[in-house]
Amino acid sequence: MKTCKLGLIGCGNRSMAHIRGMEPLENAIFVSVADPNAERAKEKAEITGATKIYKDHKELLDHAIEDGLDALIICVDPTAHTEDMELRAIDMGIPFIVEKPMTIDLDLAQRIADKVEEKGLITSVGFQDRYLDLVDMIKDELPKHKQGGLVYGAWIGGVPGPWWWQKKDYCGGQLVEQNIHLLDGLRYLYGEPLSVYATSSTGINKAGENGISPEYDTDDHSTVVLRFPGNVTATLVSGCYSKWGVRPPCGYQITLNDMVIDYRLRNNITFITANETRDIKRTMEQTNVLDEVFVDAVLTGDGSKIRSPYSDALISLKLAYKCNESMESGQVIYFD
Ligand SMILES: NC(=O)c1ccc[n+]([C@@H]2O[C@H](COP(=O)([O-])OP(=O)(O)OC[C@H]3O[C@@H](n4cnc5c(N)ncnc54)[C@H](O)[C@@H]3O)[C@@H](O)[C@H]2O)c1
Repeated sequence: MKTCKLGLIGCGNRSMAHIRGMEPLENAIFVSVADPNAERAKEKAEITGATKIYKDHKELLDHAIEDGLDALIICVDPTAHTEDMELRAIDMGIPFIVEKPMTIDLDLAQRIADKVEEKGLITSVGFQDRYLDLVDMIKDELPKHKQGGLVYGAWIGGVPGPWWWQKKDYCGGQLVEQNIHLLDGLRYLYGEPLSVYATSSTGINKAGENGISPEYDTDDHSTVVLRFPGNVTATLVSGCYSKWGVRPPCGYQITLNDMVIDYRLRNNITFITANETRDIKRTMEQTNVLDEVFVDAVLTGDGSKIRSPYSDALISLKLAYKCNESMESGQVIYFD
């Protein structure tokens, strides 16, 4: 059996999901890990059994050939995607999974996408929900009904801890960093939007108070209205000001002419009609599927089952930044 030898770049929180995702696979092993935070790198090497520990992506890539790497998992913070990370991996012909948002530099992202295309390299971006059984169910259900209707999407919680999360310039803000999952999901379900209008607000969370970083300057909440073909209008709200115990449900509520689909983020889905209410729980761990599909693609050379290659993920990233643009200008943005 062929084995996919993996290098892990970035050993923070998100890397654990991929470590768990790769763990059940007999055809994937971690060979090397890299992180400037030596403690994190050592810990992830111990968990994965990787024998090589490097101080950063550069050192890991310097040794990639001798370590026999077949693929990379890139889980660095949004500010850390340098010119010599993905572009160098592509030059070396090494496929990769990269976490969303793939960078906060759209110019760099475009050059990465162009180079991936030119080389025909296998890539996968961490839009885990595209592999979720509940999202498949929505995708199967929608064509059975009259087209058109309203969609409400929500991701509302508190302020996440990472240092790079609380300053908008470091991660793009909550929509770009977090609610991009539901934004990407709207594209996955409805195609490309015709227009967006967005608004945002600050002033609830105070920098330096209640455990919030002194650097906090991101939006407390934002609302995006997206028009899609087929008479679909989606309202997508993001919020990071609500306290534990008083948070509303996250996910999508889709109102069709004869059904309501109530999808609770990564948990369950309820299909409601005049005659029936059907509730279905999530049965799988979607990041595991994302990882398995990627490893199969690397080993077979067939990337057709990857649901979010870099080029497609870039469309979602650009869309999220267009929404930010509308938040700032107050203008509707129309797409050709
Ligand atoms: N797909 C998802 O559902 C999901 C969930 C959480 C986070 N994420 C994304 O994953 C990424 C990482 O998030 P996180 O929570 O793990 O962040 P984190 O801050 O916990 O970890 C990032 C790690 O990258 C390391 N790093 C920075 N530069 C590096 C370099 N040059 N070489 C090697 N390591 C380097 C940092 O030292 C840090 O340990 C972010 O883009 C985040 O948005 C995705």
